[in-house]
Amino acid sequence: MERIKTYIDRLDEQLEGGIPKGTVSLICGTPGCMKSSVAYSILYNNAVKEHLRGLYVTFEQEIASLKQQMERLGMAEATDNLTIVDHAMIDQTVGVDMRFELNSIKKAKTYLTDLPDREDYDLLVIDPLNALYTLTTIKNPRKEIYRFFTELRQLNMTSFIISEIHQGDNRFGKYGVEDFLSDAIIHLDYRREKDILERYIGIVKMRYTNHNLQYYPLFYNRTGFTIYTKEEMEF
Ligand SMILES: Nc1ncnc2c1ncn2[C@@H]1O[C@H](COP(=O)(O)OP(=O)(O)OP(=O)(O)O)[C@@H](O)[C@H]1O
Ligand SMILES: [Mg+2]
Repeated sequence: MERIKTYIDRLDEQLEGGIPKGTVSLICGTPGCMKSSVAYSILYNNAVKEHLRGLYVTFEQEIASLKQQMERLGMAEATDNLTIVDHAMIDQTVGVDMRFELNSIKKAKTYLTDLPDREDYDLLVIDPLNALYTLTTIKNPRKEIYRFFTELRQLNMTSFIISEIHQGDNRFGKYGVEDFLSDAIIHLDYRREKDILERYIGIVKMRYTNHNLQYYPLFYNRTGFTIYTKEEMEF
């Protein structure tokens, strides 16, 4: 099975080499736990090092702000393999007439399936999925989400869907179906150790992959994200 490297140092070896190609992963977590940074870093590293083409759809954060944030994290190399679009660009592409007839989930679906160079993209990020729920009224969210995930899988891209959750939530998506529909759940979390917040990353599920269920401490340095395993910390 072909896999996409996360480029999170030492995580890929815990995932039989990376995330199965063509799957849909949920990257979920509370505010500020680096969901966007982790997702961007996967696309950025694959663009620069593997020449894989990525499409990053940002619904809430402005493109300039996202770019600036990622540059500050050291992801500044210019690459033609990474395209960022926002909802205004999607509205423009899908068309004004359609905009009032389609809810946001359908609009995103139309945009992605009609992309003229869709075949050329390898990786996709939707940041965040929750924005699609709030921009317009969705009559039957569970049905729409099911259709959305089905179509994402048919796009032949490896997709990362960002899901915003709140501290203490015991599900990984707003409607309680996203986690069942996705192939993988990558959970970013905080834990307070005395007076210090520590970041963690856990692989809650990953189909086709023999992974363990540790929550790994997650760090960022100028070369990228890195984790430590329980065995390494005990050593
Ligand atoms: N060099 C760094 N090392 C570690 N953490 C950093 C660094 N620079 C910024 N951060 C942290 O990254 C966080 C923001 O990351 P990011 O935007 O990826 O999170 P997010 O989960 O997408 O947030 P949101 O919920 O607002 O969308 C900031 O809160 C800041 O604490
Ligand atoms: Mg974000």
